[in-house]
Amino acid sequence: MLIYSPDIYKLEILTIGWKVEKLENRIETKIEGAMEKSKVLVVGGSGYIGRRLVKASLAEGHETYVLQRTEIGLDIDKLQMLLSFKKQGAHLVEASFSDHRSLVDAVKLADVVICAMSGVHFRSHNLLLQLKLVDAIKDAGNVKRFLPSEFGTDPARMKNAMEPGRVSFDEKMTVRKAIEDANIPFTYISANCFAGYFAGNLSQMGTLLPPKDKVLIYGDGNVKVVYMDEDDIATYTIKTIDDPRTLNKTVYLRPPENILTQRELIEMWEKLIQRKLNKSFLSKQELLSSMEGLDYASQVGVGHYYHIFYEGCLTNFEIGDEGVEASELYPEVTYTRMNEYLKLYL
Ligand SMILES: NC(=O)c1ccc[n+]([C@@H]2O[C@H](COP(=O)([O-])OP(=O)(O)OC[C@H]3O[C@@H](n4cnc5c(N)ncnc54)[C@H](OP(=O)(O)O)[C@@H]3O)[C@@H](O)[C@H]2O)c1
Repeated sequence: MLIYSPDIYKLEILTIGWKVEKLENRIETKIEGAMEKSKVLVVGGSGYIGRRLVKASLAEGHETYVLQRTEIGLDIDKLQMLLSFKKQGAHLVEASFSDHRSLVDAVKLADVVICAMSGVHFRSHNLLLQLKLVDAIKDAGNVKRFLPSEFGTDPARMKNAMEPGRVSFDEKMTVRKAIEDANIPFTYISANCFAGYFAGNLSQMGTLLPPKDKVLIYGDGNVKVVYMDEDDIATYTIKTIDDPRTLNKTVYLRPPENILTQRELIEMWEKLIQRKLNKSFLSKQELLSSMEGLDYASQVGVGHYYHIFYEGCLTNFEIGDEGVEASELYPEVTYTRMNEYLKLYL
């Protein structure tokens, strides 16, 4: 005769619990597999952030289309990059911004369109071309979500931005208006400071490398900024596209450990190189008067630095009902901390 001791009961309960958990996991996996992942079209896919979006879309298992512009001409680097996407499983779709029909046909292939159109003045700046894409999306009528080329400061909060840098925010708002007037479902990604432009150089203007001896600090250097690894921006962006919580919202990328002051960033670098840099401080007035005589693209840049490092435009507000925060929505993403990121520059 089998005599049940309390320990045997405990063991049986544990075993049953374990079996239920396994079953639940199996059901969850099946549901996830059954849920269709959106088909994604990336426009501007060979660009700086665009290429990362293509990679992240493929990595998340989305059927991924990349616009191959007919104007590519003899740009062998661009073509090679597009072909490498194809090798990784993406589909290349030929189209042109000068041919509405071709854009409509491209858009019809996807559920989600992500645009990474150029918007940095010292590289290339064509944000308003997106109005043509918006027209194509409107005519195609099938798109469940459009993510326009944003990926920076939230333009809706920059109504009082200074000239001439405000052009970036104004144009992004023009595109937003066209999207919303056409009732196209959207997600806006506010990605804050790309680390490649703002962290690797310790936020020094006019260089992409860390200074060797002297570092310039804006104001007292204590304004909170958000630095983001560009690959993480792409990962978070792709996470949002099928998520009902991000529909018609602005998604702010503010992972807590990457909300840093310029001083904190410099300290991280000093720890890595095990020595101190000479610091000088630039007042608000000094920064603003330095704009005089600069070319247009540099003036735009200085204006953006002013809003970020003196006004604190990336962090001087609470996220309201119009927005959500990415690292809260997707805690499973292990984002790159800046002390890790900076090691690249050693
Ligand atoms: N927060 C930050 O720190 C930060 C930093 C940089 C950029 N951004 C933002 O990120 C977005 C993308 O900027 P990016 O630097 O990644 O852009 P980019 O690499 O300069 O250009 C992206 C793509 O724009 C397309 N493009 C350029 N000229 C075009 C034209 N005449 N007709 C059609 N397409 C054209 C090209 O697409 P193809 O691939 O088809 O050739 C190009 O690859 C912008 O909104 C920008 O403001 C933010």
